[in-house]
Amino acid sequence: MAVLVTGGAGYIGSQTCVHLLEAGKEIVVIDNFSNSSPLSSQAVKEITGKDFPVIECDIRDEEKLGEVFSSYKIEAVIHFAGLKAVGESCQKPLEYYDNNIGGTVKLLSVMKKFGVKCIVFSSSATVYGEKHTAPFNEEMEVGGTTNPYGTTKLYIEQILRDLCASDSEWSVCLLRYFNPIGAHESGKIGEAPNGIPNNLMPYISQVAVGKREKLSVFGDDYDTPDGTGVRDYIHVADLADGHVVALDRALSVKGCEVYNLGTGKGVSVLDLVKAFEEATGIKIPYVIAPRRPGDIATSYADCSKAKNVLGWEARRDVRKACEDTWNWQKNNPDGFTK
Ligand code: NAD
Ligand code: UFG
Repeated sequence: MAVLVTGGAGYIGSQTCVHLLEAGKEIVVIDNFSNSSPLSSQAVKEITGKDFPVIECDIRDEEKLGEVFSSYKIEAVIHFAGLKAVGESCQKPLEYYDNNIGGTVKLLSVMKKFGVKCIVFSSSATVYGEKHTAPFNEEMEVGGTTNPYGTTKLYIEQILRDLCASDSEWSVCLLRYFNPIGAHESGKIGEAPNGIPNNLMPYISQVAVGKREKLSVFGDDYDTPDGTGVRDYIHVADLADGHVVALDRALSVKGCEVYNLGTGKGVSVLDLVKAFEEATGIKIPYVIAPRRPGDIATSYADCSKAKNVLGWEARRDVRKACEDTWNWQKNNPDGFTK
């Protein structure tokens, strides 16, 4: 039996593939490569020394999905596939609703048709919206998302809850990621954003490698210790470990469960810049710029549920994430090209 990994060529998906293979799981990857390269799956094969099918397939293509489910014995799905750029989602809401929500509905329909009723879903801390004070815990009411991307995560969570309510055979694990950073320690896979990075860590590493002149720090007048935004940066390898345990949990427990995956620690923009400089010895020039619309001051997780129920907690610190990011970035300044 195999685990189908949608969006398995992407940043978090490819790292999770490594950890699944290392845990002895069989995997099948599908991806439409809209934001990734098949070379990342090639690198996963090199890292693990294991082979697996990589199929170009859009999750909105029900016919092709059906062929995948007919060809392989799938027992569960880890669902990463989706568009994820917050700013772009405000410009192109219909594309986000179609790809993320429409695509997920198609995927779930095909899963149901083939009797595969176990799914681990990539949600986001963004579903907590703006009204709560960190640390965010899973009991807090979700909603009040500030952009279409976040709203797709909120709606998909609800769709998955409704599915569980309709049929007690479904097992769903909603994983709310905080801020994934870092890369595989081999330097063979990592984050390769198209164009100008939206997120802080890839921006810092592109400044370090000389692709960008300086970082703009979006606001230094927040109600935080140094005035810059505070986030919970989690090493992508810890996130991947979280998926392996969540998958085992979903395979053994029916119903819908939700877990935060973070470190529980808040790190400011300037803290992250400093950690990167210390880890790499490279100075990151920056300027203070206006606040970015839609940003909140502070976001970090209460991770006690994942620890108590799944026995999972983040083990790698921000320095390790900076070292691994730099190892990936300096060897692959233009992402997957070789
Ligand atoms: P990513 O863009 O690197 O990976 C997503 C993958 O899905 C890409 O390989 C892309 O080509 C593929 N894809 C997109 N639409 C598809 C479709 N219709 N059919 C098939 N494949 C499709 O992003 P990531 O950072 O690895 O994120 C993975 C998941 O985690 C996403 O759902 C994202 O929203 C979620 N998430 C990411 C973050 C983050 O900060 N990186 C935070 C919270 C949640
Ligand atoms: N920041 C800068 N300069 C930059 C980029 C970011 O100062 O060039 C700051 C932001 O203002 C924020 C912090 O760095 O204070 C982190 O910003 P990111 O864009 O890296 O991450 P966000 O917390 O804004 O967003 C991330 C994911 C979203 C997800 C959200 C909540 O990108 O997909 O976490 O989980 F919805």
